[in-house]
Amino acid sequence: MRPEGDRTPRVILGIGGGIAAYKSAELARLLVQRGYRVQPVMTAAATQFITPLALASLTHTKVITNLFAGQADPSSVLSSAIEHIDVALENDLLVVAPATADLLAQFAHGLAGDFLTTMHLAFTGPVLLAPAMNTNMWNHAATQANLKLLRERGYSIVGPDAGDLACGMVGAGRLAEPLEIADAVTAQLQGRGDLAGETILITAGPTQEAIDPVRTITNRSSGKMGYAIAANAALRGAKVILVSGPVAIAAPPKVEMVRVESAEEMKNAVLGRLEAASVFISVAAVADYRPSKPANRKLKKTSALLSIELEPTSDILAEVGKIKGSRVVIGFAAETENLLAEARRKLEAKNCDMVVANLVGQSGTGFESDENEVLLVRRGGDPVAIAKAAKATIAAAILDQIANLRLSARR
Ligand code: CTP
Repeated sequence: MRPEGDRTPRVILGIGGGIAAYKSAELARLLVQRGYRVQPVMTAAATQFITPLALASLTHTKVITNLFAGQADPSSVLSSAIEHIDVALENDLLVVAPATADLLAQFAHGLAGDFLTTMHLAFTGPVLLAPAMNTNMWNHAATQANLKLLRERGYSIVGPDAGDLACGMVGAGRLAEPLEIADAVTAQLQGRGDLAGETILITAGPTQEAIDPVRTITNRSSGKMGYAIAANAALRGAKVILVSGPVAIAAPPKVEMVRVESAEEMKNAVLGRLEAASVFISVAAVADYRPSKPANRKLKKTSALLSIELEPTSDILAEVGKIKGSRVVIGFAAETENLLAEARRKLEAKNCDMVVANLVGQSGTGFESDENEVLLVRRGGDPVAIAKAAKATIAAAILDQIANLRLSARR
């Protein structure tokens, strides 16, 4: 059952057996990147084109492959005879890509021969179908009649595109691009918006502190975690302002960007926009020190030793903590040891509602990685451990907690 208070959008990704099934991996990746929990369900034929392992790796979720597989199919995760009902009840949207001619026919006529088609009958949410097949199959009167029926019942159809097909023909029948399908999913889900009405101010990335006009002191933060939180918050209906240090990633859709370089610029950008914010999330790896006297001209090298005097920067999060009011304030802590103790110390010292702590110096998580593994440390509650997952998934879990904190703040 879905945990109480968990509002992360949940999507069932149904995969039919056609050559376009390989593109479902890219679609799964995009959906996860957008902060959705994705449950792949493959037909038996789909597993001939792409392995359940590929989908499991991308979604960090066990893949469901067959209704009655039980112990006969070790890749199946059937935990109960009624799992198709559980999956139908727990999810917000069913997207099927590729939807083969056979699946369209089964859906149109209410057949229930395997997990996907049975679960489809029990599913009451929006259904999005991305058909892919040979042009003649697509144009066949039976397929078109099935589509007409499905459209009349409120199903959304994305594509197919026209172009070169795997069978060598040229014409309609090619699966819509994964990005187009992902956008259609987002458009359907956007109405849910559990963070609608919130203004969320986020800092992300590193800062750069000038030594001279061409050199800086900076750090290895990629900005990926902060950008993932911004993207997920916008998706869930929040107005998002992202104050970002210099990073090499694209601005998330529907996010107001404020680009800064130094800790001082970041502080001014945050304090100037705090008034409107109901939530402040301090993800940036802000420099703790900066050169006290940056040179106006490029420093020339000599053979002598060079010392650069550093002075402390202001702690943006601590300053926000001091004037927090009813805002929800979230800090981050990257530690090499004593994770929980350090997180609790920062929670108090900076007057935060929650600190997101992670161990750095491990391979595969942290600064430049696409994945992370964190501990959510709140006031007066047990820490919540979020297992290693894509940063977008971690972002969604962090925002679930924030949505709960805002709910209690409004009560
Ligand atoms: N932070 C900030 N402004 C700074 C420094 C840090 O807003 N000048 C914020 C970061 O965005 C993060 C949290 O504070 O949310 C990190 O806490 P911090 O104590 O600065 O961590 P470290 O720099 O690792 O400090 P320490 O050496 O005490 O562990």
